[in-house]
Amino acid sequence: MKNLHLTLLLTLSSFCTYAQNQIVLNADLGKHTISKHIYGHFSEHLGRCIYDGIYVGENNPKIPTVDGVRKDVIDALIKLKIPNLRWPGGCFADTYHWKDGIGPLANRPTIVNTWWGNVTENNSFGTHDFLNLCERLGTEPYLSGNVGSGTVQELSDWVQYTNFDGVSPMSKLRKENGREKPWKVRFWGLGNEAWGCGGNMKPEYYANIYRQYATFMTSTGNDRLYKIASGASDADYNWTEVLMRDIPHNMLDAVALHHYSVIDWNKKGPSTTFSEDQYFTTMQRAYQMEELVTRHSNIMDKYDPNKRVDLIVDEWGGWYDVEPGTNGAFLYQQNTMRDAVLAGMTLNIFQNHCERVKMANLAQIVNVLQAVILTKEEKMILTPTYHVMEMYNVHQEATMLPLTIQTNQYKLDNRQLPALTCSASKNKEGITHISLTNIHAREAQEITIDVRGAKYASVNGRILTAATLQDHNTFENPEKIKPAAYNGATLSGGQLKVKVPPFSVVVLALK
Ligand code: AHR
Repeated sequence: MKNLHLTLLLTLSSFCTYAQNQIVLNADLGKHTISKHIYGHFSEHLGRCIYDGIYVGENNPKIPTVDGVRKDVIDALIKLKIPNLRWPGGCFADTYHWKDGIGPLANRPTIVNTWWGNVTENNSFGTHDFLNLCERLGTEPYLSGNVGSGTVQELSDWVQYTNFDGVSPMSKLRKENGREKPWKVRFWGLGNEAWGCGGNMKPEYYANIYRQYATFMTSTGNDRLYKIASGASDADYNWTEVLMRDIPHNMLDAVALHHYSVIDWNKKGPSTTFSEDQYFTTMQRAYQMEELVTRHSNIMDKYDPNKRVDLIVDEWGGWYDVEPGTNGAFLYQQNTMRDAVLAGMTLNIFQNHCERVKMANLAQIVNVLQAVILTKEEKMILTPTYHVMEMYNVHQEATMLPLTIQTNQYKLDNRQLPALTCSASKNKEGITHISLTNIHAREAQEITIDVRGAKYASVNGRILTAATLQDHNTFENPEKIKPAAYNGATLSGGQLKVKVPPFSVVVLALK
């Protein structure tokens, strides 16, 4: 009798395992737009991001360039449809004096990059190089202003230099340096990590500083600047509380948030030869984003119930040990299927919170942290993260479709996480896209999706997966991981059945 009970229990529990991946998609209840700016990137004067990764200078004998920028990188980024690019830091931004990076190369001062390895910074990549690159990429620049060691006048001058059309000292200087028309930069960060490398300030002090800087960033006539306050680290909810309380909302467009998925700051673990235990911890850190955006948003709701001020996660991604043999201050790491599922899960979180989360910047774009591109001399590879960002970009500016999800748990020892995350949207052409990320390291997920409020005739999709979690693209084998067509979904009546392999990312298109 006891055995019969056990058998029944086991049968029921395996049935439940299948039945627990249930999604209800409300295809007719979409209200909020997924801002394309959730797909933003971040480029800092750090390691080999700018120099080597993006800019190699003109007349490079081995690498084709446009105005000194790698052509292969430009082409790859255009395909990725990146909506905005943050520059010049990070921590570097609060040491950067923009006037060092304009005018004839020979006259530009050489400085020391004190945050990132004390290497020489010759300022050969400056304001014109960056803003012209953004124009070429069709992306909006996001300039991170120096509040930590700069002056109010310096930042106000930068705004005038980049944005003012009329006659002024800064627009005159810009014209003398070869640029007639202003670039009209909209996104401005007022300092970076003001609680840390940006000045070790207290939130009350920073809120006052912010008010002062913001007051003088107005020298451009009628153009409305989008001003971003340096935001909290992780769960520092008090930081957000004080900023929302102390900064008048008519001078504040967004509050930032930084969250890195790091196992332990003293023991980050390798980027490729990680164990399942390390993988699980990275996923736990990444999944924390759900709680972080929820709780920071709740605080913002208290002061701004109409959601006028945005939450922007302008630094996120996985952070591991640097590759053996590389400079510890350069933060160069490989990128595996772990990073692909981290990206898929995080983008699902951002999209489901799109009512408040209007921008995000993956750290960083080339050769640093969770990069979408890695370079080695004349070679360039696209990482698994690149492919996820590209597969997901169908959601940009589409209407988010609300859904409810019941999912199996991914369990390891006494820890557990939802195996599956999902987000969905409907674009202007009427196509619905559903993104599914299965973080489970060993088990496929069978999913039933009840589609309510719409009828679809066909489903197709794309998948990113690999033989092992540790798989990655290399300069010798650059296409080991790339998206493939996915035929594992069937549509019958209003129901979609999908089977998603372990550690994989799937994007479905329903018409
Ligand atoms: O992305 C690397 C660094 O991480 C940034 O410079 C800083 O803002 C953060 O601490």
